[in-house]
Amino acid sequence: MEPNQGLIREGDINSGSLREQWLAGLDSQSIKSLKEDEAVFMRQSMSTPCLQSIVRADGCYLFDKNAKAYLDFHGNSLHQVGYRNPYVLEAVVEQLGALPFIPRRYTADIAVQAAKALIEKTTSKDFKVLFTPSGTAAVGLALKIARKVTGKHKVISLWEAFHGASLDCISVGGEYVFNKELGPLLPGCIKGIPYNAYRNLLNSSSPERVADFCLDYLEYIFHNEGDIGAVLLEPIRATDTHVPPRSYFQRLQQMCARYQALLIFDEIPTALGRSGEFYVHQNFAVEPDVLVLGKGLGGGVVPQAAILVKTRYDRCSDVSLGHYTHEKPAAGCAAICAAIRYINEYQLLENCRRQGVFAKQAAASLFERYACIGDVRIWGLMISFELVKDRATKERDTVLAEKILYYSLEKGLSFKLSAGNCITWHPPLIVTEAQLASAFQIFEDAINACRC
Ligand SMILES: Cc1ncc(COP(=O)(O)O)c(C=O)c1O
Repeated sequence: MEPNQGLIREGDINSGSLREQWLAGLDSQSIKSLKEDEAVFMRQSMSTPCLQSIVRADGCYLFDKNAKAYLDFHGNSLHQVGYRNPYVLEAVVEQLGALPFIPRRYTADIAVQAAKALIEKTTSKDFKVLFTPSGTAAVGLALKIARKVTGKHKVISLWEAFHGASLDCISVGGEYVFNKELGPLLPGCIKGIPYNAYRNLLNSSSPERVADFCLDYLEYIFHNEGDIGAVLLEPIRATDTHVPPRSYFQRLQQMCARYQALLIFDEIPTALGRSGEFYVHQNFAVEPDVLVLGKGLGGGVVPQAAILVKTRYDRCSDVSLGHYTHEKPAAGCAAICAAIRYINEYQLLENCRRQGVFAKQAAASLFERYACIGDVRIWGLMISFELVKDRATKERDTVLAEKILYYSLEKGLSFKLSAGNCITWHPPLIVTEAQLASAFQIFEDAINACRC
């Protein structure tokens, strides 16, 4: 198996000659803004130097200081309802005018409505809610609840995973760039093998074989280790889109029940319709014990996250679990209600499925014609293209991927790279066929322009 040569799964590399070239090509006003940014913000991997300074966001687009539009298929996976969504903006402004803050020990109708709206979207409707200010905090809360209700502190998560950047979350995360020189991490964090039917230790492309292999290893861990209170994973990995078969989830759920561990699904970047179902797990006829939500929950306006916990685990009244200042966040709750109303009224799940079918057809046509595309994985509006030097060896073509990224930015299409060679598109769910078609055209032009 190839060594991980410093590939970053979660995002694209923000250094290197192509980034420098891109930055050098910007106008003087943009360069000045980027320099000012660097002067005041600490540098960190995947974030600095920034790509561009933006002044406006609307629908599917970002706009820079020169009014250049970027069709944003990145959006930190937060813009399901599009930027500046009118329902969300109006609801948040109205909420701020009436009741901007709900101090702890008080409640308000808007908080109850938001919690109800999220529960109403589950299959069983048998959940209770806690809000948190970030996805990271929500994952931390889920881990604490698993400890509290099972009395067991260990947790199995997956290699290559990202669940947030706090100390507890990097302990369950599986990517070195997030924990490098930051240890020691939380004890009791055990890693399983992520489902990947394109690259795996078996060299198999059979979804069922790969799924069984991953779960056999998970079962092996359970068999040999005690005190495991939780299994934490993204049901569909956002970066870079791997979709296990339904059988994987059925067996996973049975295994967790057998070993009395809570099943925690992190759907922070993928829920709210991006999979074609409101919640991702609804594609697989399973329900987790704890569901973690974030990103798009705040309608692309307010930072907002939440956990939904099966009602039977509402057993923590003697500990203060979150104790967040914004425990019942007024603006966030207004945003949640408005985003859900918009998703319903504009039938974004239907649009997601429809555009997903279009994307599959367009991608199949590219795959047929361009050998540099080693694999295409699409589920709803989670879209991933693996670029390779050779389809047989599957050697990652990280250089081509980076060239395509900057070519596309030049042409006004923004997205992120995962694992160095995966073009990862997360369009807003309001995306039209014409917008998707234009992205595919830019991608094809980029392949033709950037291949050696
Ligand atoms: C899968 C996953 N989990 C957790 C997080 C952390 O969420 P936040 O950045 O809101 O803390 C992210 C953010 O990218 C994520 O993608």
